[in-house]
Amino acid sequence: METYIPAASPLPLPAPGSFFWVLLLVTFWFHFLAVQVLLGTLIITLVESVSGKPRDQVMEGLKRLPVIMAFVINLGIPPLLFLQLLYAPFFYTSSVLMGIPWLLTIPLLIVCYGCLYLARYTRHEGRIPLWLVISLASGLTIAYFFSNNVTWMLKPETWAAAYQSNPLGAHLYPTPGDVIFRWLWAIAPAVTVVAAWLHKSRAWGWVTVVLGGAGGWLFRQHLGAQADAAHRLFLIDFALLAALVVVLVAIRPAGLFYRLLALWAVVKVVVMVALRDAVRRGALEGHQRLADLPVQTNWSVVVCFLAVLVIGLYTLVWMYRRGKEGLAL
Ligand code: HEM
Repeated sequence: METYIPAASPLPLPAPGSFFWVLLLVTFWFHFLAVQVLLGTLIITLVESVSGKPRDQVMEGLKRLPVIMAFVINLGIPPLLFLQLLYAPFFYTSSVLMGIPWLLTIPLLIVCYGCLYLARYTRHEGRIPLWLVISLASGLTIAYFFSNNVTWMLKPETWAAAYQSNPLGAHLYPTPGDVIFRWLWAIAPAVTVVAAWLHKSRAWGWVTVVLGGAGGWLFRQHLGAQADAAHRLFLIDFALLAALVVVLVAIRPAGLFYRLLALWAVVKVVVMVALRDAVRRGALEGHQRLADLPVQTNWSVVVCFLAVLVIGLYTLVWMYRRGKEGLAL
């Protein structure tokens, strides 16, 4: 089967590809951290609400969730723009092949967000778990669709067969195992990130160890030769899980434990972002290199863009501060 890859846009980038690549990684780090916080808070609050924990404890998560969701969405837009700029022929093709599920992410996002408000403001406490379950299921499905898309963009050799079998865009990636374990690996740190932030039970750390260890190992196996480009980063990723085990078992003073857990969470997300990037660049090297993208540097565009970025970042800091004042974030 022949590999068809659409031609890249003839319009040159207004700055070198490496400039946008750095921005992609940095902005994605923020989005990925926010995703962990969202899913972790949803899971922990759901468990607290069904296990009869005091109302104050459940509210701790409930009142934060709508604000966290705003961060997830706002911090998702910049990497989406940079991804399209750098990898358009790959990311657009996989998005078209899975067009129906891909477009479904928007209604799912509305359901995920809406249910957080319903859970937060409902007068019937008994319905809180129901709204949280729906929100969590929608959030996990969105994450699964993202994993499908970023997996499929790396396999141009499978595009033609999928399109010829059904051009409607009703596909998901043809080998679910390749996606499920990547997805599991991607979301596994969520509960530990939130345990570090809100000082929750250390038992959540074990959930990450088990799911992240199994998911990471199987994700690596399913990548096959594509994993070679990220070999060292996979080793660092497994070493980080081992470090988490040491922290969970050996560190008893609560203050030190939560500080180390927070440090672990920050480093873990850095490694995951770098690992995903190494896999992607390794997989696409034979088709496209960022250094070969056409560039015609236009500093006025770059300066305007950076000014808007700074204003955007300031707005997020402002949102966080307001959230902190009003909701004790
Ligand atoms: C509940 C909402 C969301 C969840 C749970 C979520 C979760 C995720 C996850 C788990 C990944 C990594 C997938 C993988 O590597 O296998 C991801 C990637 C990504 N997300 Fe989100 N996401 C959400 C909303 C959004 C929104 C609203 C946007 C944009 C407006 C966005 C933009 C992105 C982009 C661009 C990537 C890929 C970045 C890259 O590969 O460099 N996400 N998301």
